[in-house]
Amino acid sequence: MAQFITSLLLALAIVAASLAQTTTSSVSTTPSHISAQACADLNGYQSRTTKQCFFHVNETKSFIQAELHCNTKFGGHLASVHNGFDNLLITDFARTDFATIDQFYIGLNALDGSGKYTWLDGTDVDYTNWGYNTYNTQCVVVDMKTATWVRSDCFTEAYFVCSA
Ligand SMILES: *[C@@H]1O[C@H](CO)[C@@H](O)[C@H](O)[C@H]1NC(C)=O
Repeated sequence: MAQFITSLLLALAIVAASLAQTTTSSVSTTPSHISAQACADLNGYQSRTTKQCFFHVNETKSFIQAELHCNTKFGGHLASVHNGFDNLLITDFARTDFATIDQFYIGLNALDGSGKYTWLDGTDVDYTNWGYNTYNTQCVVVDMKTATWVRSDCFTEAYFVCSA
């Protein structure tokens, strides 16, 4: 009987440990974000899925100048995109918020020299929506006609979306 109870307690401990691990890993993939109130105060809008706050800037800048604008105006970065819902959300707003239907920068880039694409805000690359790529350059824009991602010259001035 004592041995049965010991085995039962051991089994419960294993289940509890695996539940704790599941909870921890699902939290770490959610991007950090500012509060809903802070988002509204800055005239951004919040994703229902990731709770990230997005900002569309109706100006064209190079990749680096766009990132600096996101840092100073919103305390954020060029946007990270983590699912198809948010990808369509920001593209849809881009079509109404930007003066022309063209392309806009997001925070994905290969500038750290590792040969891999990473997000400027340090979140995991857990979603991509690559379209047809004619260039092999280090920055990424979203094509507003198709919502697909295209590699881009980092110096080309484009509209941009920030997230915080
Ligand atoms: C974006 O800027 C252009 C001028 O640069 C302006 O004509 C247009 O109305 C602006 N769009 C929005 C949605 O503010």
